[in-house]
Amino acid sequence: MSPTFILFFLLLCFTSQPCRRRIFTSAAGGQWQLLQKSIGISGMHMQLLNNDKVIIFDRTDFGKSNLSLPDGKCRNDPHDTALTVDCTAHSVEYNVPVNTFRALTVQTDVWCSSGALMPDGRLVQTGGFNDGERRVRIFTPCESCDWVEIENGLAARRWYATNQILPDGRQIIVGGRREFNYEFYPKNTAPDLFKLPFLSETNERGVENNLYPFCHLNVDGNLFIFANNRAILLDYVNNRVVKMYPSIPGGDPRSYPSTGSSVLLPLKNIQGPALEAEVLICGGAPKGSYLLAVNGTFLPALNTCGRIKITDPNPQWVMEMMPQARVMDDMILLPDGTVLIINGAAAGTAGWENGRDPVLNPVIYRPDNPIGLRFEIQNPTTIPRMYHSSAVLLRDGRVLVGGSNPHIYYNFTGVLFPTELSLEAFSPDYLDFLFNNIRPTIIAPANLANLYYGQKLTIRFSCDAPVVQDRVVVTLVAPSFSTHSFSMNQRQLALGNNMVIVLGMNFYDVEVTMPPTAVLAPSGNYLMFVVHQNIPSQGIWIHLQP
Ligand SMILES: *[C@@H]1O[C@H](CO)[C@@H](O)[C@H](O)[C@H]1NC(C)=O
Ligand SMILES: *[C@@H]1O[C@H](CO)[C@@H](O)[C@H](O)[C@H]1NC(C)=O
Ligand SMILES: *[C@@H]1O[C@H](CO)[C@@H](O)[C@H](O)[C@H]1NC(C)=O
Repeated sequence: MSPTFILFFLLLCFTSQPCRRRIFTSAAGGQWQLLQKSIGISGMHMQLLNNDKVIIFDRTDFGKSNLSLPDGKCRNDPHDTALTVDCTAHSVEYNVPVNTFRALTVQTDVWCSSGALMPDGRLVQTGGFNDGERRVRIFTPCESCDWVEIENGLAARRWYATNQILPDGRQIIVGGRREFNYEFYPKNTAPDLFKLPFLSETNERGVENNLYPFCHLNVDGNLFIFANNRAILLDYVNNRVVKMYPSIPGGDPRSYPSTGSSVLLPLKNIQGPALEAEVLICGGAPKGSYLLAVNGTFLPALNTCGRIKITDPNPQWVMEMMPQARVMDDMILLPDGTVLIINGAAAGTAGWENGRDPVLNPVIYRPDNPIGLRFEIQNPTTIPRMYHSSAVLLRDGRVLVGGSNPHIYYNFTGVLFPTELSLEAFSPDYLDFLFNNIRPTIIAPANLANLYYGQKLTIRFSCDAPVVQDRVVVTLVAPSFSTHSFSMNQRQLALGNNMVIVLGMNFYDVEVTMPPTAVLAPSGNYLMFVVHQNIPSQGIWIHLQP
């Protein structure tokens, strides 16, 4: 917008009440948008694919959903515990740009499962319950694809496990209920199963406060695993614990059912020699909360975050106070390098009927601000997102929010927090139209460009207002698998503070170097954003490969 136009627009605006309100209230705190009142199923698990479609599923064994399967597609499953013949869907593909969805067919129970995108863009999802507990299911991005299932694809049952894509292109699948071990998919080495005593040590009897462990691929190639209230660094190749981290101060559990959330903070200076990595864990429920919640007493959730430099020789937790207590929060890395803390409740725990006091306001965490100035409360939604809700970043910078099914069945009435079939989007305030003049638009490379490790790349972009040359950063964000308040495989890399070349007429080039190794960024699809003065462009998909 030209300055004259802005002036004209503001003048017009002062005469109109709704416009005035928008200008003066919308620039802070973000906005909510109801995308779909019902997609027929509950968004318990979500994964964005490289065609801007989101695969969503809940579970097969809790009755009929509100979406019919196409004719001839009914599921016949003699082992299902609810409906052996089921003509309703429990999975959908949501098309982000056109805001539509179609029913997909899962054959076995996907409840409380896990997954990751493979280097070629396929979603490989693993495990679940009952007849689904050792399944591997594959979803290939295409116009009319559906789930393909592999029987006995897993060596052990995987229910509440966590997956991480690895530098060698395999997934590691860690833990799950009563499984104190890990395995890989695909399997190209024997043995099939590797013991992990850390998972039995952190398994509190009768509570199992170590499910859906928080796994992050460290910059040294080892796997950081946090369960209950402490963490290890695992050399998964040699099945050796190479570092033990101190317990999180206070000692309260942060993993399911005391569900908090966790991110690996954006990786910076990735070409440099002494690369650092930090993990942030926020929220959860105090020790003892789960058994009390089951008995009807809902303790206040934790209001703290712990931050730790996992690459430090002597790593220590630094604790910070959130503005609100929260359990079952999702943490999402935004393209501008901030962390969105969204969904969840202020009391109780994860598990059926165990949560109370929904927290409707997201919070933004600014990792680079000084302590005390990092949290910023955002505008609230109206829809509680309790147990079994999820959130994923979209290519346009919005965050898709769905789910909330805290009951054993699809109960829409007669219960506290009825089953939610809706989808919403939260738009952080960087999407406000007031920032359009400084927002970059990527012109090249083209969507889905193949890029190589260490490749030097010129990104061309346009921007209406003159670009502040030292305020341009290019970020890569890996699309994550979201369920039970944890986004598996979430990863962000800042490609540096780059040299910007002015081409004239609002066009610019910025030169970046792609990540040097698959340890820093496993091969696969990433969203790439140009960020100018903290305002991100729309992302483009790139494919990073050896
Ligand atoms: C589910 O479908 C039934 C029947 O079509 C409808 O009456 C009900 O409103 C739907 N519930 C929700 C929550 O969408
Ligand atoms: C929950 O209630 C049961 C049955 O009354 C009781 O035995 C148990 O101690 C209670 N648990 C807690 C944590 O209060
Ligand atoms: C929830 O739904 C199930 C299955 O339809 C039903 O048996 C149960 O009574 C419902 N619960 C409530 C509280 O309505």
